[in-house]
Amino acid sequence: MSPVVAVANQKGGVGKTTTTHSLGEAMAEQGRRVLLVDLDPQACLSYAAGLDPESLPASLHDVLIGRDSAHNVVVTAGRCSILPASIDLAGSEIALATKVGREHALGRALADIRAEFDIVLIDCPPSLGILTINGLTAADAVVIPLQCETLSHRGVGQLLETIADVRAYAKPDLAVLGAIPTMFDSRSRHPREIAADVAARYGLRVFEPAVPRSIRFAEAPASGASILDHAPKSRGAEAYRELARQITEALAP
Ligand SMILES: Nc1ncnc2c1ncn2[C@@H]1O[C@H](COP(=O)(O)OP(=O)(O)OP(=O)(O)O)[C@@H](O)[C@H]1O
Ligand SMILES: [Mg+2]
Repeated sequence: MSPVVAVANQKGGVGKTTTTHSLGEAMAEQGRRVLLVDLDPQACLSYAAGLDPESLPASLHDVLIGRDSAHNVVVTAGRCSILPASIDLAGSEIALATKVGREHALGRALADIRAEFDIVLIDCPPSLGILTINGLTAADAVVIPLQCETLSHRGVGQLLETIADVRAYAKPDLAVLGAIPTMFDSRSRHPREIAADVAARYGLRVFEPAVPRSIRFAEAPASGASILDHAPKSRGAEAYRELARQITEALAP
C-alpha cells in the first residue's frame, strides 16, 4: 500500500506547503507516482501547483462531505496529481464537526485512490483543528517542517501531543519521521542550536540537509512551478531532492 505522509505544523508560515510541493515534485522526478493533497482552505498548494482554486469545478471539500469521489476531483499539476482545495474547505470543518467518525473522512476518501500512487503527501493547514486531525489520521507518517528560531520548539511539543492522541484514538502506528529545518540560515549559529535542541528534547530525527533560506522559494509559487523547475540547480532544489530520497528510504518497509 502506498504510504501517506502528512506534512504538519500548526505554526503558520514555516514551509509546510513549500515542503509538500517540493518533496512531491522531487519524488516524481525520481520516478514515483505522487498524489498531493491540499488540506488547507487557503489553497496555497493548489495555487503554487499552477491551478486556479477559484475556477475548479470541485475540490477536496466535495470529497470530504461525500458529494464527490477522489477519482472525480483529482487533477494533474506538474509531475504530480493533486486533490485541490478551495475556500469551501473551511466549510468542511463545520460539516464534519457533527459527524460520527469525522476524523476518518480523509482516510476513507483516499482509500479508493491511493493504490494508483506510490506516495501521497498531505499539506496540512496551520491549526490543530479537525482538518489537520483528518490529515494525521489518514497518514502513516508525519514530517514536521521547522523554522529554527527562538520558541519554535514550543509548537513541536503541542503537535507531538496531538499525534499521541491520534495514535491513542485512531491510528496506533502513526510514525513521526522527523523534522525538516526550513528557511535555514547557515551563517548563523542560532538555527543549528535550535535544531539540536529540538532533536534532543523530543528525540526527533532532524533531517539533513536543512533547506536554505532563498528568495527563489518566494518567487516560485507565482510561476506555478515548484523550486525544482523554477530554479532546478539551486541549493534549495538540491536539498529537497536529497530529502525526498531520505524520506522514501525511511518509508521503505
Ligand atoms: N526555504 C525558503 N526560503 C525562503 N522563503 C521560503 C522558503 N520556504 C518557504 N518560503 C516562503 O515562506 C512563505 C511561507 O511558506 P509556506 O507557504 O510553504 O509555509 P506554510 O507553513 O505552508 O504556511 P501556512 O501555515 O500559512 O500554510 C512563502 O512565501 C514561501 O514562498
Ligand atoms: Mg501552507
